[in-house]
Amino acid sequence: MEAANGNKWLEVWTRKGREAEAGGLASLMRADGFDAGTGSMTEDDWLRQAERIAVRLDLARARNVLEVGCGAGAMLWPLRDLPLACYGVDYSETLVDVACRAMPDITVQTAEAAALPFPDATFEAVFSHGVFFYFPDLDYAARALAEITRVLIPGKGRALILDLPDMALRDACERFRREVAYGGKDYPTEQEGPYRHTYYPRSFFTNFAAGRGMQAEFFDQDIASYPMSPYRYNVLLRFDHCRVSGCTEGASHAAGD
Ligand SMILES: C[S@@+](CC[C@H](N)C(=O)[O-])C[C@H]1O[C@@H](n2cnc3c(N)ncnc32)[C@H](O)[C@@H]1O
Repeated sequence: MEAANGNKWLEVWTRKGREAEAGGLASLMRADGFDAGTGSMTEDDWLRQAERIAVRLDLARARNVLEVGCGAGAMLWPLRDLPLACYGVDYSETLVDVACRAMPDITVQTAEAAALPFPDATFEAVFSHGVFFYFPDLDYAARALAEITRVLIPGKGRALILDLPDMALRDACERFRREVAYGGKDYPTEQEGPYRHTYYPRSFFTNFAAGRGMQAEFFDQDIASYPMSPYRYNVLLRFDHCRVSGCTEGASHAAGD
C-alpha cells in the first residue's frame, strides 16, 4: 500500500487487527488504539464525540455516511443506530475484518484514504477521526481530501476531519509525546522517525476549501479524558452554496450552529 511508504503505521494497524476481538465498543476502541497512553479516552467521552459528529454532519437528515480510516469501526458503532447507511474504509485488512465481524449490518472495506472505492457524488457525509496524522505528508493528505470531496454530493455533502495535530503546537505536542508515549527514550523524531505524526496548519484546509467552492470551519478538540486533545483541532468542510432542494440558507444551515 502506498501510504505505508516512509512509515511503519500500517504494520502497527495490521498487528492491532490481528490481536483484536470483534466484541462491543470497548474492544473496538482498544483495537483502534483509544485504550491506553496518549490515545486513551473513556467510553462516555467516546459516545459524546459520536454525538458531536452526528450534529456537525447533520446526520439526522442524511441518507448515508462514510468514515475514512474507520479501523475496527469504534466510531461507526454508535452511529449505526441512526437511520442511515454506514460505510467505512481502512487500509488495514485485519482491522476491516474485525469491523465486518463486529458489525455485519454496515459496509466496511479495505482501501486507502487517497483512493476511495466509490463513484463521484455518493455520500451526504464523510468523516475521518484520528487518521490524518498517520498520513506520510501533506501531499498525501491533499489527495485524500480531494478523494473525500469527490465522493461527496456536490453542494450538499459535508466532510468533517477530526483530531488533527495543530502545526502551531507542534513543539509542545512532540515534547508531550516524547515524555508520555516514549518515556523520553529512543524517541523517533517528528521529521524522520518511522512513527512520526504529520502536523497541519489551518491554512492547509482553508486553501483547499477555497479552491473548491467550500468553507473550512474550525473548532477545538475538547475531550476531557483524551490526553492529545489540547494539541488537536477539527475542521468541517462544506459548500459555499447549499443545493439542498428548498434550502435558501446557503452553507449556514448546519445543525448545531
Ligand atoms: C487511531 S485509528 C482510528 C480508527 C477510527 N477512525 C476510530 O476513530 O476509531 C487510525 C486508523 O487510521 C487508519 N489509516 C491510517 N492511514 C490510513 C490511510 N492512508 N488510508 C486508510 N486508513 C488509514 C489505520 O489503519 C487505523 O485504523
